[in-house]
Amino acid sequence: MSGQVMVSEEAAPVHPGAPILQVTGLVKHFSTDRGLFGGGAKLHAVDGVDLEIFPGEVLAVVGESGSGKSTLARCILRLIDPTAGRIVFDGQDVLALKGRRLAGFRQQVQPVFQDPFSSIDPRWRVGTSVAEALDAFAIGAKAERRARVLDLLDRVGLDPSLAGRRPHELSGGQRQRVGIAAALAPSPRLIVADEPVSALDVSVQAQVLNLLADLQRDLRLAILFVAHDLAVVEHISHRVAVMYLGKIVETGPTDAVFRDPRHPYTKALLEAIPRPDPDRRMEGSALHGEIPSPIAPPSGCRFRTRCPVAIGRCVTEEPEMTAFGVGHTAACHVARAEQQDDHHRP
Ligand SMILES: Nc1ncnc2c1ncn2[C@@H]1O[C@H](COP(=O)(O)OP(=O)(O)O)[C@@H](O)[C@H]1O
Ligand SMILES: [Mg+2]
Repeated sequence: MSGQVMVSEEAAPVHPGAPILQVTGLVKHFSTDRGLFGGGAKLHAVDGVDLEIFPGEVLAVVGESGSGKSTLARCILRLIDPTAGRIVFDGQDVLALKGRRLAGFRQQVQPVFQDPFSSIDPRWRVGTSVAEALDAFAIGAKAERRARVLDLLDRVGLDPSLAGRRPHELSGGQRQRVGIAAALAPSPRLIVADEPVSALDVSVQAQVLNLLADLQRDLRLAILFVAHDLAVVEHISHRVAVMYLGKIVETGPTDAVFRDPRHPYTKALLEAIPRPDPDRRMEGSALHGEIPSPIAPPSGCRFRTRCPVAIGRCVTEEPEMTAFGVGHTAACHVARAEQQDDHHRP
């Protein structure tokens, strides 16, 4: 993908320079312990992922549970070490960072998790949790912190009076807002949000998504937004990367991926979205069966065992990423053949 890629028409940031985050050939294999004498097998959680995010851009990573999204997010956050590959943030080799530079990276790249309790302590008052996020990076003089905490609560739409409450006194949506305030506290440039609304009621999901979209625009944040549901990311993301069994199978501007999906897996995910408008329903069959074990991924194309259009070649040959439009790529033999037919038609 070139640095000139334009994303969806509305509110799309143009990419004038270098990506803020660039991931190349990322692999994370877990060894599965099969007892003392059995050789452990390798679980291919992430199996060669390339992606980039530009400053102020929202990239959604979408795929079913088990496709490796959280493992990818945890590698990027440097919570776990990848088996192979490269992660560059703001020109720095993330995997080589130590000491002060690593602390600087942790300040600039903040997580938001599905369960806000993984970033806020259930015993602490809400204001303390947010203050702690400031303290962790020694931000601001002590006297300023109170004002800063109240300001952050206000930013995420929480009444300052909630600062004295404990998490269990809040609703799920309010707790996630506290999690977001804590993530914003050190003024990050990139937020890695792993299913930040998946645990919330649908009505609350929309509110938290709107909040994230507003913050993203106002603060020019870059967000890596992980979700298992394409519908959730339609309005918040500029680009989408669809992940299946450790690999990205399609990526493109959100608009292009929704309007003109090329990979059968993307089509199946789109079809799973309930639509009131029959014109937007997709043809073909919905997704059947379960995601295969990442211990022994299928040969050739990993999706072939569930693919409604698979051909012989899909068993033997792994499809490469092919361009279908500006910044829009997919890895599918059938889609590629269809595109070539279109080109050769008089
Ligand atoms: N620490 C771990 N040890 C072994 N296997 C793991 C570990 N973390 C994740 N996995 C496996 O890696 C695969 C991808 O998991 P995950 O990254 O959580 O996917 P997703 O977030 O898309 O649901 C799954 O098969 C999961 O069981
Ligand atoms: Mg996950």
